[in-house]
Amino acid sequence: MIDPGFFITFEGGEGAGKSTQIRLLAETLRAAGHEVVLTREPGGTPLAEAIRGLLLNAGEPPEAMTQALLFAAARHDHVSRVIRPAMRAGQIVLCDRFTDSTRAYQGEALAEDALEATILLGTSGLVPDLTLLLDLPPEAGLGRARQRGVAGDAFERADLGFHARVRERFLALARREPDRILVVDADRPAEAVAASIRALVAAHSAIDLAGAGA
Ligand code: TYD
Repeated sequence: MIDPGFFITFEGGEGAGKSTQIRLLAETLRAAGHEVVLTREPGGTPLAEAIRGLLLNAGEPPEAMTQALLFAAARHDHVSRVIRPAMRAGQIVLCDRFTDSTRAYQGEALAEDALEATILLGTSGLVPDLTLLLDLPPEAGLGRARQRGVAGDAFERADLGFHARVRERFLALARREPDRILVVDADRPAEAVAASIRALVAAHSAIDLAGAGA
């Protein structure tokens, strides 16, 4: 059965402005009369948020396969308890990071078939209808992330070369799946980025962005 809802993921490196943009799109969609679920990964359920704590704040990160399995376990809980039910109910789900983050971040250390196996188990085959890749140079993004005044989680503390390769892997994914993954230039003022996102969602989905409430 095809779910009546619509599933949009936001992806990108550190400090790309995903949380601001996801909030702005949620406001636009709600003003247009849509029911929107805003969620994030790793996280989105109490169990998955606990796994997030283990992954991001536990000092030295575990091996890449251990990471991928923990992300998959968190995602399975999130997909089955939050995302699938919302989609079945015809809601629009906006998720801050999803499977492409696993490919971009864990993809360096793991063989593709092993990584894809963990992803398939974690999602039970759920693929986003649309993915917005907020792209900007890692120097700019890490500068923004550090301005927020946090010491940085395990991934933010990785070196600049790692973040440059994460960006390249995201862009390679977008070239491989150009119909699903749309690249947005995030190195611009937030309102300009938000306008591009609204235009892309309008052009690539059947969602009415200018409903009665807009
Ligand atoms: P988060 O605070 O959400 O980062 P940001 O604010 O940049 O979105 O932290 C999530 C971190 O987890 C981020 O560095 C990317 C990493 N991550 C993975 O490595 N693999 C994954 O599958 C996911 C979902 C996130």
